Amino acid sequence: MASLSRRVKQIIEPKFVVEGADVLLRRSFGPARENLFDPFLLFDHFAFNNPREGPIVGFPKHPHRGIETVTYMLEGNVRHRDSLGNVGIIGPGDVQWMTSGRGILHEELPNRGPSGLIDGFQLWVNLPAAQKMSPPRYQEVTAAEIPIAERNGAKVRVVAGDYAGIVGPVTEIAAKPIYMDVALDAGAEFILPTSAAHFVVAYVFEGEGIFGVEENGNGEFIKSVKLVVFEDGDQVRVKTGADAPTRFMLMAGAPSHETIFPYGPFVMNTKEEIQQALLDLRNGTFVQ
Ligand code: CO
Repeated sequence: MASLSRRVKQIIEPKFVVEGADVLLRRSFGPARENLFDPFLLFDHFAFNNPREGPIVGFPKHPHRGIETVTYMLEGNVRHRDSLGNVGIIGPGDVQWMTSGRGILHEELPNRGPSGLIDGFQLWVNLPAAQKMSPPRYQEVTAAEIPIAERNGAKVRVVAGDYAGIVGPVTEIAAKPIYMDVALDAGAEFILPTSAAHFVVAYVFEGEGIFGVEENGNGEFIKSVKLVVFEDGDQVRVKTGADAPTRFMLMAGAPSHETIFPYGPFVMNTKEEIQQALLDLRNGTFVQ
């Protein structure tokens, strides 16, 4: 059977929002009961920190339950500390894939890089009901541990998933995710087989290219910065013109098709489970 290339279904213009203690970021989508991006809940890009704004306080101590938060830095770093005693710095090119499970309390404090800027992403991935109360787990991967696959003018940092036979180090995640940082030279092509059951998006943060290229060569011209949502299919194709490169995050995962009930930093399946999370916080039994 011939493969079916995914077409572009929707193009989202990220919105500026302020989160945490005055962190200005670009949000493509956030948690909502409609769960339109299942298994993904949120995608933020913190890249618009004016050095003249002064110090960035970041995200002081807050809880999470029922989700995974994935932090990937391009520039600057995030100092992380949690209630279980984990401490670390997520530097340029590093990834922290944090599975909150039943609960953690942590702080995330961004610091500027040498240029004075902070550039990075945070993705939230939903946990299916059966794993929402699992023990917390971290997968921390340094820049040097993330393999780079090169083919047809595409240079791909593979965090999770498989490109050109190169497999990313983040594994055993419920959503069976693909998470890749893709840089395409001018005149390049990126083709990635994706499970037909997966939901797929691309966050285009540099340059421009043709996304959702079909068998006849047609596709959508996308200029950064945009989030592209793909239709169903079993592969993703992107190509660049003769004189313009592009760079994007390619994210895919298996939807859980469950009803969700988001509330701030918690995402559970029912309102009662949210009430329980708030009760656990009040009673000091949130973290065990
Ligand atoms: Co957090």
